[in-house]
Amino acid sequence: MRPLAALFSNHKVLLLLTVLLVLSAILSTAAVARGGGQPFSFYVQQKQEQQQQQTPLSQQTPSPQENQGQKALSEGQRALIPEYKYFQEAGGTLELAHYDARFFTAPIPYTTHRTILTHLIRSYLTTFASLNLETWLAHGTLLGWYWNGRIMPWDFDVDAQVSGTTLAILAEQHNGSVHTYTAHTNPTTGQEENRTYLLDVNPFATRVGWGRGENFIDARWIDVETGMFVDITGLVERDPRGQPGVWSCKNYHGYRPEELFPLRETEFEGVPAMVPWEYEGVLVGEYGEKSLVVTEWEGHRWDPDSKEWVKMNETETEEVL
Ligand SMILES: *[C@@H]1O[C@H](CO)[C@@H](O)[C@H](O)[C@H]1NC(C)=O
Ligand SMILES: *[C@@H]1O[C@H](CO)[C@@H](O)[C@H](O)[C@H]1NC(C)=O
Ligand SMILES: *[C@@H]1O[C@H](CO)[C@@H](O)[C@H](O)[C@H]1NC(C)=O
Repeated sequence: MRPLAALFSNHKVLLLLTVLLVLSAILSTAAVARGGGQPFSFYVQQKQEQQQQQTPLSQQTPSPQENQGQKALSEGQRALIPEYKYFQEAGGTLELAHYDARFFTAPIPYTTHRTILTHLIRSYLTTFASLNLETWLAHGTLLGWYWNGRIMPWDFDVDAQVSGTTLAILAEQHNGSVHTYTAHTNPTTGQEENRTYLLDVNPFATRVGWGRGENFIDARWIDVETGMFVDITGLVERDPRGQPGVWSCKNYHGYRPEELFPLRETEFEGVPAMVPWEYEGVLVGEYGEKSLVVTEWEGHRWDPDSKEWVKMNETETEEVL
């Protein structure tokens, strides 16, 4: 073997080292640009500063970002962390459970929440498609698709699923990425608005065990302006001995692969989307037969002419009760 000093006196080696240095500098600059300009911590910090200006010190919640500013952990390192609840919601009530604590400022009223959710799901579906990440609609969002391809007006969050393989890619390659989406707020006038979304992956996402029930949401696509989010859960064969051939999330929703695949290509809220192959079976399994036929739900009535759920007025709601 040649001594180290001899290696460095070799011009070819020196040249190679220089090229490598320059390349790595270019690549790290590119990585920042790909994330949309500002790293994740920038948005958390900015929001915290805003909140500090608004809320008195005594009411501030502690930051859930325990790992903020630290280097990303490897899969092996993550496997060793004792489990704690990663995603923090704005509060324990049904209303406040729909907002990420870090980005929450005020509850969104009924009249405007649907527009925010529409931009949320459109940005999610189009970004995932452009990154070649497979995802499909789940739970109440799938039910909304079944009726009219839209979010149901009484829903305050959106649900999507991914395979365990995609979840691992999200954790390794896309965690903390920030995405800008141009929302066309008025197609007639061409008025638009750029909105920002954060993809945040739970450090316990790739654990196969069910866990303690505090981390069954594996990842979130968060609207950093309001804190509203898409809940993303990953399906894996979690218990190959007890339940062979059943893919489930950490919240015990189980599916046979043939129920899900091949996914059907469709549209949701006006953009391309995917749904499970046997969507009716999936919906009946989760919500019962009545979810596909009952036309009065959560204070809304199905209007077959406009194909929309219409909010009932107070007199009507009392009649139903
Ligand atoms: C939104 O972003 C795009 C691309 O960066 C830009 O061309 C456009 O002017 C922006 N629109 C608004 C309303 O800021
Ligand atoms: C994702 O990033 C956040 C913030 O940096 C970090 O706390 C979390 O552990 C990361 N998740 C994974 C799967 O690495
Ligand atoms: C409520 O809806 C019913 C039926 O559509 C209608 O007859 C009634 O006038 C409405 N009441 C109010 C207060 O809007």
